Amino acid sequence: MKITIFGTGYVGLVTGTCLADVGHDVLCMDVDKGKVQRLQDGEIPIYEPGLERMVQENVTAGRLRFTTDPAEAVAFGTLQFIAVGTPPDEDGSADMQYVLAVANTIGEHMNEYKVIVDKSTVPVGTAERVGESVAAALAARGEALEFDVCSNPEFLKEGAAIDDFTHGARIVVGTHSERVKELMRECYGPYIRLQEKLMFMDVRSAELTKYAANAMLATKISFMNEIANLAERLGADVEQVRRGIGSDPRIGYQFIYPGCGYGGSCFPKDVQALARSASDVDYQAELLNAVEAINKRQKQTLFAKLSQAFDGDLAGKTIALWGLSFKPNTDDMRDAPSRTLMEALWDAGARVQAFDPEAMKECRRLYGERDDLVLVADRIQAVKGADALVICTEWKDFRAVDFDWLKNQLAMPVVVDGRNLFDPQTIKQAGLMYYAVGRGDSL
Ligand code: UGA
Repeated sequence: MKITIFGTGYVGLVTGTCLADVGHDVLCMDVDKGKVQRLQDGEIPIYEPGLERMVQENVTAGRLRFTTDPAEAVAFGTLQFIAVGTPPDEDGSADMQYVLAVANTIGEHMNEYKVIVDKSTVPVGTAERVGESVAAALAARGEALEFDVCSNPEFLKEGAAIDDFTHGARIVVGTHSERVKELMRECYGPYIRLQEKLMFMDVRSAELTKYAANAMLATKISFMNEIANLAERLGADVEQVRRGIGSDPRIGYQFIYPGCGYGGSCFPKDVQALARSASDVDYQAELLNAVEAINKRQKQTLFAKLSQAFDGDLAGKTIALWGLSFKPNTDDMRDAPSRTLMEALWDAGARVQAFDPEAMKECRRLYGERDDLVLVADRIQAVKGADALVICTEWKDFRAVDFDWLKNQLAMPVVVDGRNLFDPQTIKQAGLMYYAVGRGDSL
């Protein structure tokens, strides 16, 4: 089957590559010439385990190609996936300009029936707007070709995107057209397991499903962070509470890890965009607003704990930081808790000595060269000469630590752990002061 994907960002590239991998002919279109050239050479612009090799294999096999030519892209696939960005507007709503620009391009160039597949995360009602844009561009050419628009949201987690694509819990397709259903079955058919998980529904419900899924997961996290904050004040240990409630299958163990707040390109943006959609239809989304407010506050707790440990005086201190990315297995620092912390530390006159297995380049790109940021080669260098250590990301190489050694490295024996990696008793026995999340700071 011939498939065109607009946008070679995270979602577009993973989708295009996975579809090529099962034998479809995929053409990915992007306006960025440099990026397309690098992709043609098998070099990928993001860090995603397993993806680079998969791109290279499929490019070599001739099933995955890249272009900057919109006419070629539109002519190619019967299915035209839109997988371009929907960054937040100033008011928190999703900025639709890139999605609508692609719709316009398709209308300008199409010469036969096409199915436009909305893969980008877009507000409810977008499929209709996409349809209108395509129709308007066709009308401007004096054409009235047939086309359909369907919604097919993605549920990929960064760092596990290939597995999420190939073994996803469901494939949601919003359409009423039998013709579209048939084509989408053909598209996902080679993934036998996915075939059974195809879920057809109406377009608006599919669009809302995407936001509802992310908002639900974000709610679980904010809820747990609230319980963690309560546990701290009530003298309970949230990790024991987590095990206690997760064992109830109605609650489940997933996404109830308290921490220093959720980040990334999805949860913060999607919760905000859904709340914004709610107010557009005169509904006050109290829960969504609270989920966001709790998360913002949670991102400040690492600094608050550090500040408490240093009696409010962090000026001139050197803080070791393990983990910059918003979660492990990615170099993404969008809305990462590490950023809130670093920025607060700099404001307080402290210096940051940081290490991350993947996100160092990204950190340099975001903050440039500055005297109060030193990026070091490994976690050991990060604590050398530091006053205290903060952990922002639960990379697996941060889990095994010789606490006696750590105590000797730090001027003040303070460890602030935003991910609850260690057993409080063991770390305390080594003489370290351990500030975790929801575990009682008096530990
Ligand atoms: C999220 C969803 O999990 C995907 O299903 C969805 O497709 C994707 O957004 C998207 O909309 O594109 P992602 O942002 O890659 O995926 O990352 P997650 O693994 O969901 O983690 C998000 C944040 O929540 C991270 O900062 C993580 O540290 C935090 N988190 C996660 C917790 O604080 N506690 C948990 O228990 C789980």
